[in-house]
Amino acid sequence: MTIQTIAQLFDMTGKSAIVTGGGMGIGQGIAFRLAEAGAKVMTTDIDLDAASQTVEQIKGRGGEAQAIRADAGSTADATKVVQATVETFGRLDILVNNAGIFPVSPALQVSEEMWDKVLDVNLKGVFFYSQAAAREMIKAGHGGKIVNVASIEALHPMPVRGVAYVYYPASKGGVAMLTKALALEWAPHNILVNAVAPGLTMTPGVQRVAAAVLASGVSVEKLVETSDRVPLRRLGEPDDIAKVVLFLASAAADYMTGSLVVVDGGYLVS
Ligand SMILES: NC(=O)c1ccc[n+]([C@@H]2O[C@H](COP(=O)([O-])OP(=O)(O)OC[C@H]3O[C@@H](n4cnc5c(N)ncnc54)[C@H](O)[C@@H]3O)[C@@H](O)[C@H]2O)c1
Repeated sequence: MTIQTIAQLFDMTGKSAIVTGGGMGIGQGIAFRLAEAGAKVMTTDIDLDAASQTVEQIKGRGGEAQAIRADAGSTADATKVVQATVETFGRLDILVNNAGIFPVSPALQVSEEMWDKVLDVNLKGVFFYSQAAAREMIKAGHGGKIVNVASIEALHPMPVRGVAYVYYPASKGGVAMLTKALALEWAPHNILVNAVAPGLTMTPGVQRVAAAVLASGVSVEKLVETSDRVPLRRLGEPDDIAKVVLFLASAAADYMTGSLVVVDGGYLVS
């Protein structure tokens, strides 16, 4: 086996990647890092303006990227995004299933509509985007990397005042097991499937939830308790997660598949 230098391991020149929900937060951080490594990045989002802003920033730093409006929960959009990526960049090497939603609701108030929406984006879409990507990677015969953004809630729910937002840990637990099952099935095609499990990370989405939780009467002290429990004494930043996704998408992780990598500042062991 040829030993590659560290620079070669992280050089993604000539590769192309899809990042779902790349308009802000963790997805934006991932798009920035993949582009910095040389990959051409198809940035998807339901918010096209947000995706376009990510792309402008990548281009401003000399990278290559394109924005596309696509719903991470839509099977038709999965096919559309893969086709657009191959048409634009000539190939597809990396898929990052990042888009996810986490609306606030106690279990007794969850409607069927709300359950379906969360599960469609957080779990069903992860499968159908992976399927569309894998079909292309297998057709091209070069394998690829799929990285799913799960959550530490795939391993343990994090209730706030007894409210666990049930569909969220349920969907992320599904992503963790989907990651392992696909890793097993697609290993013969050299499609490596891994996931990251972020802890609480400061993003626009989390800021929205924090505002909603505060509005429901939970004290600031209660919210702050969560960050105080993190052994590294701070909440995550999008780039904390993006660096680990970069590693999993790189040749440095060529012997990893089916793993769920926890990135939480030590929260789960505290
Ligand atoms: N922030 C955290 O604390 C945290 C912790 C663990 C896991 N995660 C996971 O990380 C991922 C990103 O979270 P974030 O905090 O950056 O979120 P965010 O809300 O800050 O950003 C999400 C982005 O995805 C887009 N998006 C939402 N629904 C979409 C859809 N149906 N199709 C396409 N794009 C869509 C939004 O427009 C936005 O640009 C999610 O899967 C989330 O579950 C986040």
